[in-house]
Amino acid sequence: MKIGLFSDTHYCNCETIGGIRNPSLAYERTRDALEIFKKENVDLCFCLGDMTDHVKGDTKEDIKGYFEKMLSLIKSYNLPFYSVPGNHDYLMLTREEIERELGLKTPPYTVEYQGISFIILDANYRFDYRCFDEAGVEWTDSNLPPFQVEYLKNQLYKATSPVIVLVHENLDPNTDENHIIKNATEIRKIIKASGKVKMVIQGHYHSGKSSIIDEIPYITLSAMCEAKENPYKIIEI
Ligand SMILES: [Fe+2]
Repeated sequence: MKIGLFSDTHYCNCETIGGIRNPSLAYERTRDALEIFKKENVDLCFCLGDMTDHVKGDTKEDIKGYFEKMLSLIKSYNLPFYSVPGNHDYLMLTREEIERELGLKTPPYTVEYQGISFIILDANYRFDYRCFDEAGVEWTDSNLPPFQVEYLKNQLYKATSPVIVLVHENLDPNTDENHIIKNATEIRKIIKASGKVKMVIQGHYHSGKSSIIDEIPYITLSAMCEAKENPYKIIEI
């Protein structure tokens, strides 16, 4: 099985953000990545979050437009696509609006495909476990709320096949303190104890990272809007 991955496109209506993010380049790179995913016959495609960003004065309709432009590009390739929400994706849209108006499923959810379980989580919650959509986005304060910790435990307990865990913010403690999910240590222990997780895939830390923890690869994708080369990945499982 092949899965196609990309992350942190930060798409919006500007050439550069903060002198380092390049949303239009990320859009072109996403198209290039999708071309390759199609040619390579990837089975599933995931965006690991921060599909959109914003510029000063943007309205909710503007943000929706950014999502729609990205999603229309992605849909044109007719690949089974799943979205992992990032902190920026909650700047103006609620979980409910992302589901209802953009047609994107919001986590937690599990995709079963050819004997692999993909568990998609959402750590866009503050210390008091209020989602960023109502509590306000604070990228340095991400937490996996108790209902998702329970979801993860239950899914891992039930899984009869290998599992891949996907989440925007970082479970890998080797990235950078601000990017790490506050209860990551607890979650890594659950992952290790299950003995079923074969890989953890994440975004958020734009430089990217690759670690092995408890014999499990933790892969952090480099940002489409920043990396020197197109940082999409195809992983064969
Ligand atoms: Fe990002």
